[in-house]
Amino acid sequence: MAFPVTRLRRLRRTDQLRNLVRETRLTPEAFVYPMFVCPGEGVRKEVRSMPGVFNLSVDEAVKEAQEVHSLGIPSVILFGLPDRKDEVATGAWADDGIVQQAARAMKRGVPDLILMGDVCLCEYMSHGHCGIVKAASTPKSLGAAARDAMNTARVVAVRNREEKKKAIEALATVVTRAAQVEFEIDNDASLELLARTSVSLTRAGIDIIAPSDMMDGRVAAIRAALDEANFINTPILSYAAKFASGFYGPFREAADSAPQFGDRRSYQMDGANLREAMREIELDIEEGADMIMVKPAMPYLDVIAAARDRFDLPLAAYQVSGEYAMIEAAARNGWIEHDRVMMEALLSIRRAGASIILTYHAKAAARLLA
Ligand code: PBG
Repeated sequence: MAFPVTRLRRLRRTDQLRNLVRETRLTPEAFVYPMFVCPGEGVRKEVRSMPGVFNLSVDEAVKEAQEVHSLGIPSVILFGLPDRKDEVATGAWADDGIVQQAARAMKRGVPDLILMGDVCLCEYMSHGHCGIVKAASTPKSLGAAARDAMNTARVVAVRNREEKKKAIEALATVVTRAAQVEFEIDNDASLELLARTSVSLTRAGIDIIAPSDMMDGRVAAIRAALDEANFINTPILSYAAKFASGFYGPFREAADSAPQFGDRRSYQMDGANLREAMREIELDIEEGADMIMVKPAMPYLDVIAAARDRFDLPLAAYQVSGEYAMIEAAARNGWIEHDRVMMEALLSIRRAGASIILTYHAKAAARLLA
């Protein structure tokens, strides 16, 4: 039945009517609040690119967790900034690691809060990659690289200073590139460290293990290790479809985890691939994931919707640091209305089909919903 019998505006007339027919609702019960724990005492250091988000020492993190809980948010996910980094991510799996310490203190201080532990190695590796790095080829000496570059260099006619400068720069790039180590992230060797980390975190009181490293086979490896250690009831929330994204920028400042060379494209997904995301999710489910996640959220709402359509596991989405930073920055400039845009963004993630939202806006949104 069309106009004039049908008038969709009839149900939009008042607040009460709009409320009655609303299809999607936000509740604080859907939120998970990410927290960054650092060494020290009384530390509360704001992340420059994420106003309102802090690096917190364990004591401060417990206070923050109490506040989060009192706002009706059921869960936090913990990231750690270790005091030292090395090539085997000791800080990730050591029983006195920073997240392990925080988990013990939070379990004591806020027993009802669900503690998620992000399982990844990048924050604990001196090179900032999510797995073990091995050299894939020996680097050429700078001299050998230069000789090779000279042999292959074309003769270029330079007409002026500017062109000469450009030609020299181009040659320099060729030489440095040739002298660089080719490296590889060793998938299978990394699994052992991820499994060890998961067991250690669970032992410290983490309730849900959330691997975000994107190594193949990590869910199976973690499940086996947890079961072996008798943690058969610890669920795994897999960052199943995690894309290589520029939106992680501010997080890498917050967690001090930027890769020192190269990037993460050899393990995180290509943003162009929806079908591959479905395969990633399917494999993680086969390996024993109890819940799945899509990350980032807003640039990948179609992936969330497709995952919701196809899989019946609880589905989470991570509204990442860059999504948060953009809203905060624009609002601080007076370019958008903060609360309105924050709620609209969160609602879009729910509407796409995520039942759980990991968001730095959890506290602010929960306050508005109260
Ligand atoms: C660890 C990890 C990252 C994020 C969550 N876990 C960073 C990355 O992969 O580079 C990003 C979260 C955010 O941007 O808020 N690998």
